[in-house]
Amino acid sequence: MKFFIDTANLDQIAEAQSLGILDGVTTNPSLMAKEGIKGKANAIKHYKAICKLVAGDISAEVISTELATIISEGEELAAIDEKIVVKVPMTLEGLKAIRHFSNVGIRTNCTLVFSAGQAILAAKAGASYISPFIGRLDDISYDGIQLIAQLAGIYAVQGFQTEILAASIRNPVHIVRCAEVGAHVITAPLEPILQLLKHPLTDIGLQKFLADHHKLND
Ligand code: E4P
Repeated sequence: MKFFIDTANLDQIAEAQSLGILDGVTTNPSLMAKEGIKGKANAIKHYKAICKLVAGDISAEVISTELATIISEGEELAAIDEKIVVKVPMTLEGLKAIRHFSNVGIRTNCTLVFSAGQAILAAKAGASYISPFIGRLDDISYDGIQLIAQLAGIYAVQGFQTEILAASIRNPVHIVRCAEVGAHVITAPLEPILQLLKHPLTDIGLQKFLADHHKLND
C-alpha cells in the first residue's frame, strides 16, 4: 500500500518525505486555501515547489465545473510536471473530463467518491485513482472502511486498473484497516501517519533497555 500525505503544507511534506516512506501528495482547494495560496500563478508556483520535494504522484485539483474548463484547467495543471495527477470531482462533467484525459494520456484522481456506483463509473472512464472519503462517511454514520473493502472486491473481480486511494483519513486505525481491506494507496495528514509509530510498550521497553545498560556501564 502506498502512502501519500494529504496537505499542501511544504514543511509537513518535507517532514513526511524525510521519513523515507512517502509515495506521493494529495491536495485539494481547501488545503491550498489553508496555506494562503491565492490565484493561479501562485498555485502553479506552489505545485512546482511540491514537485521538487517529492518523487511520486502529486494530485492537483481543478476548480472548474464545466467540461471545457475542466479540460483546459486540467491540461494546464498536467503541464506543470509529469508527477501531476489531475484531481477531478465525481460529477457528470467530471466523468466526461476523466474519459477525455484518459484518452489523451493525462492521469487523473477522481475525488469526492462516496459509493460503489461512483467508483465503477470512474474506473470505466479510465481514472488512474479514485478517492473515496472514509472520514466524511464515518461522520454521517456510514462505515467508510466498509466502502473501501467493497471497492477492493469489485475492482479485483472486474480487473479494473484504477487504484483505490483511500482519503479523508482521520486516525491511524483508518490506515491499518485500509491496509487490511485492500486499499492501494492511503492519503492522510502527517499526524495519523506519525501516530502509527507509537506504542506505550515500545517506550517502556526502550526505557528499561537503556536503564539496564546504563546501570552497568555508567
Ligand atoms: C483527499 O484527497 C481529500 O481531499 C481529503 O482527504 C479530504 O479530507 P477531509 O475529509 O479531512 O477534508
